[in-house]
Amino acid sequence: EIKVLAISGSLREKSSNTALMNAIIGLAPKHMKWTIFKGLGDLPHFNPDIDNDEGPVPVRELRSQIQEVDAVLICTPEYGNGVPGVLKNALDWLVSTSVFMNKPTAVISASPTPMGGDKAHASLLLTLGMINAAIIEGGNLIIPHITLKMSKEGAITDEGLQAEIEKVLQALEQACS
Ligand code: FNR
Repeated sequence: EIKVLAISGSLREKSSNTALMNAIIGLAPKHMKWTIFKGLGDLPHFNPDIDNDEGPVPVRELRSQIQEVDAVLICTPEYGNGVPGVLKNALDWLVSTSVFMNKPTAVISASPTPMGGDKAHASLLLTLGMINAAIIEGGNLIIPHITLKMSKEGAITDEGLQAEIEKVLQALEQACS
């Protein structure tokens, strides 16, 4: 059994990244046990003055959920050429901890634009590198034109994308074995 925490960097109800994350979970083999982190919007703004072991409950929850899993999958949009503030805020709360240390991590950005959120993707890798996440070889995807590759119901309709997702899942599995 492999435990994976999935995090979407979008708070939007009809988010394509959240839909993609759910589709990936749907395609994953049964022995992968998924938890979806739902507390991104509940985290207080990062402030070192309140960053300690007794810190805010949502922050403790984030840290323990990462600690408990074998791997992490992040699906994120790009805003203003960068990582969405809510996701960067969550990572800022982890810099003083070692919860991401050597944690196999797959990073996906998806966007309706032709660039696929490449700047957010690159920036996210920099931050994850700083907290020593083990970025999975073959676990990274930058997905352009996401709206053309999924149905309104949230299924992946693009065969190429489907194949890429399957490779990411295999890489995730391998990184945990
Ligand atoms: C965007 N979007 C966007 N896309 C991108 O590829 N690079 C960017 O810098 C931005 N910047 C940006 C700013 C603002 C204010 C908005 C509202 C949108 C478009 C973005 O990719 C699109 O809205 C996605 O649908 C957001 O992802 P979710 O919510 O569908 O997962």
